[in-house]
Amino acid sequence: MSPPKYPDYLPTRPEGFTPTLDVPLFHSEEPGLRADPNYPELKKGGLVIQNITPRIGSEIHGIQISQLSKRGLDEVALLAAKRGVLVFRNQDFADIGPARQRDIVSHYGPLHKHPTMGYPKGTGPEFHVVYADEKVGTLRDLLGPRSSYDLWHIDQTFTQNVPSTTFFWILEGPANGGGDTAFTSLVHAYQALSPAFRKTLHNLSIFHTSASVGEVARVGQERALKEAVNAEHPLVIEHPVTKQPVLFVNPTIGRHIVGFNPTESDLLLKFLHDHIKSLDFSCRVRWEPGTVVVWDQRSAAHTAIPDFENGERRHMVRMIPYGNEPQPAFP
Ligand code: SIN
Repeated sequence: MSPPKYPDYLPTRPEGFTPTLDVPLFHSEEPGLRADPNYPELKKGGLVIQNITPRIGSEIHGIQISQLSKRGLDEVALLAAKRGVLVFRNQDFADIGPARQRDIVSHYGPLHKHPTMGYPKGTGPEFHVVYADEKVGTLRDLLGPRSSYDLWHIDQTFTQNVPSTTFFWILEGPANGGGDTAFTSLVHAYQALSPAFRKTLHNLSIFHTSASVGEVARVGQERALKEAVNAEHPLVIEHPVTKQPVLFVNPTIGRHIVGFNPTESDLLLKFLHDHIKSLDFSCRVRWEPGTVVVWDQRSAAHTAIPDFENGERRHMVRMIPYGNEPQPAFP
């Protein structure tokens, strides 16, 4: 196998797995609320928006994220909240170094520190390196035998404050293609339901836990449950920036409906988890060298698509700022 293109960003974890941090509730600014909805800063740079589908996802051309002013970064938060996911092409972001990367993403809020994912040597667990190669294997190896490997989720929703404007960028893609990431609009998933059905969802809450499908696979069920950090969030939240209702379901982390017995909860969540996967309101993002994806975790859920060949390298980095505590939406 050829040497990695970004050896300084290989995942390290000298301290080993650590317990998940229970972040106490705090007020987070929402940069999207400060943004000018006419996007003057982005337009100054020559903004070109090409929607991937009408309901979710936009390719963004003409902008270099690393050159944006603070107002420009606010406008990115607003656009990401509205479109769910933004795909910036031809970026220099991967090459500006960890200090500037941390600085830019911290604009959106304090950064989540991951308990188990590796980070580049000399940085810290706020850098989440998503990595596969011949030794480490892929998500398929982590999850074990299954008939398919979609793992639709919203990241890290087990604390009172939940992730907001998230950055994910590619360092090196699989040699023979694949390894796309898919996103689904939780706003349009809500809108697709009948008004009568929506009404029944509004009074419900979901129990979210860090003992998620991914973390149980990494550290084992016993440890994951012992160190679990948990929170309850409304099933339908009001997006803090767009004020739209959002179907805030999270198949890997939001495990049951509060107050329902397990059979009732499983039945309703199975329907909702199947529903959010619909191609009616989802899109698939193909990675190219220089691509940076910015998405709002309150607007969209996502899944890796681990369809690339065994042994190929896929090398990505993600940084997750926290936004506010989700608030219920009322019908
Ligand atoms: C993630 O689930 O956050 C990573 C998605 C990917 O690897 O495409």
